[in-house]
Amino acid sequence: MRRARHPIVVIGSGVAGMAAALAAAPAPVRLLCRAPDGSGSASALAQGGIAAALGEGDGAAAHAHDTLEAGARHNDAAAVRWLCEAAPATVSWLAAQGVAFDRAADGRLQLGREGGHGARRIVHAGGDATGAALVRALRARVEAASHVQWRGGVDAEALLLRDGRVAGVRVRDTRGRCEEIEAAAVVLATGGIGALYAHTSNPPGADGAGLALALAAGAAPRDLEFVQFHPTALAVNGHGLPLLTEALRGAGARLLDAAGAPLMHGLHPLGDLAPRDVVARRVWQARQQGGAWLDATPVAGDWQVRFPTVLAACLAHGLDPRREPLPITPVAHFHMGGVATDLDGRSSLPGLHAVGEAACNGVHGANRLASNSLLEAVAGGRRLGAVLAATARLPAGGTGRWIERGAALPPENLPALRELLWHAAGPVREGAALHDAWRMCAAAAGAGWQMRLAKALLCAMRLRTRSLGGHCREDRGCPA
Ligand code: SIN
Repeated sequence: MRRARHPIVVIGSGVAGMAAALAAAPAPVRLLCRAPDGSGSASALAQGGIAAALGEGDGAAAHAHDTLEAGARHNDAAAVRWLCEAAPATVSWLAAQGVAFDRAADGRLQLGREGGHGARRIVHAGGDATGAALVRALRARVEAASHVQWRGGVDAEALLLRDGRVAGVRVRDTRGRCEEIEAAAVVLATGGIGALYAHTSNPPGADGAGLALALAAGAAPRDLEFVQFHPTALAVNGHGLPLLTEALRGAGARLLDAAGAPLMHGLHPLGDLAPRDVVARRVWQARQQGGAWLDATPVAGDWQVRFPTVLAACLAHGLDPRREPLPITPVAHFHMGGVATDLDGRSSLPGLHAVGEAACNGVHGANRLASNSLLEAVAGGRRLGAVLAATARLPAGGTGRWIERGAALPPENLPALRELLWHAAGPVREGAALHDAWRMCAAAAGAGWQMRLAKALLCAMRLRTRSLGGHCREDRGCPA
């Protein structure tokens, strides 16, 4: 008797998960996510674009060089070469999926420049709304794809292990009902960990739930200590804060201190466009001395076309970026670490895969280059989907056992954990504070999976005793 073909289960509805689901055709895919309507991914909020060496005189080798420099050469060089070589084809594929990239009057792609890039190589769609444009286009493709069955409003809480392989996932819906799904393979495309911090550019769902599930099941992590802090989010009340894209500084916006003096003066040759970690630390310090501001009033051109997302977010908070300086704070933005994978997204646990920000394949090193994240999510998703279509196996028989992530921290305890991580594991770190925070999380590890994940993050941060990339150990000296 022929056994039914189990689906590939993809958890996460950002661009990495959707690209993997589409590329897995014709294998059946179940695409699951927490938000009932599939919204809520970090991809949809991404204001940066996609880096690709498409300009005259530019090339994959130059893009790779800049990626390695940003990553403090902690990157896996082969992974970087793959990503940069895949970038132009990734942009073409996205255009074929219906993404309307911004073009000049002659029809050629407009190429922007961002911090850390030695050439104009960033493509955007809808100005600062590239992430949302990608999500819209891929979502339409997913909904039209007969091999993908999409379901929102479910949380993946356990993995089925059978004969040493991940063979299924158990999900719980918003009304507490469980479903056990046998899977030919499970893909974690659950995003990063920014929502574990008091201040973040990430949506609430980017809380490391997928990473915590993988760790509970015994998958190996990699580079957990490397978190990128973005220097310019709007300093207003709230947890997830609106980002003020780096492209604003590329277009003439200036960083100011409380006295209205240039914030980066004399600190770095690149001034306001110094590497993200350097600017983030300066803004962090300035906030302790009275505050920091981004003056975007010199930005020329039509804000509705160039920066519609920033404009709308500022106006919603009663601030007009065209007329007044904006209060800013650094925010947790991107996790370079994650579930350790190879370039095909395989984790150390057979049957379990990870892609996008949830994964760490070494491509970003100790600090991600601007506009390499959507690129990696799409290129990695497509690569993983194609591999799974060719290799996903019929599951082995037998009973297996369920490995649970465990109960969540009571919601009223989350703000304290977020403050703890913000102060001990933020843009500026120091040995004693890391140790104290780690001890607190270790003592409270039974209180919820977020505590155990925080403990694992803090452990990695303690073990890396020297500053590197986004990891700044003030007690050992941080660059500029
Ligand atoms: C930004 O637009 O400043 C963020 C882009 C990115 O994180 O790559």
